[in-house]
Amino acid sequence: MNELPNTTAIVVGASRGLGRGIATALAEAGATVVAVARGGEALAELAESTERIRPEAADATDPTAASTLIDRYRPDTLVLVAGATPHLAPLQHHTWETFSVNWETDVRIAFHWLREALLKPLRPGSRVVVISSGAALAGSPVSGGYAGAKATQRFITGYAQEEAQRAGLDLTFTAVLPRITPATELGRPAVRAYAERYGMTEEQYIEQLGPLVTPEVAGAAVVELVESDAADIAPAYLLTGAGLQKLP
Ligand SMILES: NC(=O)c1ccc[n+]([C@@H]2O[C@H](COP(=O)([O-])OP(=O)(O)OC[C@H]3O[C@@H](n4cnc5c(N)ncnc54)[C@H](OP(=O)(O)O)[C@@H]3O)[C@@H](O)[C@H]2O)c1
Repeated sequence: MNELPNTTAIVVGASRGLGRGIATALAEAGATVVAVARGGEALAELAESTERIRPEAADATDPTAASTLIDRYRPDTLVLVAGATPHLAPLQHHTWETFSVNWETDVRIAFHWLREALLKPLRPGSRVVVISSGAALAGSPVSGGYAGAKATQRFITGYAQEEAQRAGLDLTFTAVLPRITPATELGRPAVRAYAERYGMTEEQYIEQLGPLVTPEVAGAAVVELVESDAADIAPAYLLTGAGLQKLP
């Protein structure tokens, strides 16, 4: 595989989970990948294991990180994956601080990076993929403000597309909404909490999810989107273990 040579991708939230799968898949497809996360050690280990990955330790909620890294690398592809692990409890057992954790991380990251993508702007033809969540469609009753935050990420990805079109920037923005999966550190405790809430064993809950999203599935999906004609890209997709499905 070498379909994306001479291109540069920034993957924000690349040190583990879905982001690691996305960074690895883009690098295997030939892109130079700038892998961003706060934990430098995991990033260094990723860069050692995969050719063409450059580690950049940064807190992506910091607006200067978005500005500096976009200036430094002028990416053709920007993938926003980073997100906080939601506090798992029913509404009445949240505080405002636990309820809003994904607003302060996931939404904040999308806001700063999408804004910079428009203001710099990214080079014509560039692609921006924002990893939201299937929870944005159905809600997430034991994850506080998670579903609302992920729905807002989808909305502002659409707003960014609209602004890019109005300014004639030739940029493509799309949101990907993965189904819940036990395959990551963020997903595992959520699967446990939802299984318990619905009176199922973890195995039963996982069984009814169908084919699971994995870091490899997420990686293949993002490579598919980056390689597709811009005209064929939908504003948003659901991602299951079977792949991408366009959302209306
Ligand atoms: N797993 C699921 O079931 C599922 C389902 C639907 C959607 N999603 C979404 O998919 C995305 C990835 O989830 P995941 O399950 O792969 O999570 P994960 O395994 O916890 O990985 C999260 C990644 O984001 C990085 N990160 C977190 N905060 C950051 C910050 N402030 N600045 C820079 N990097 C940051 C983490 O590295 P550091 O901690 O070192 O910074 C890590 O690399 C999230 O947006 C999540 O909401 C997940």
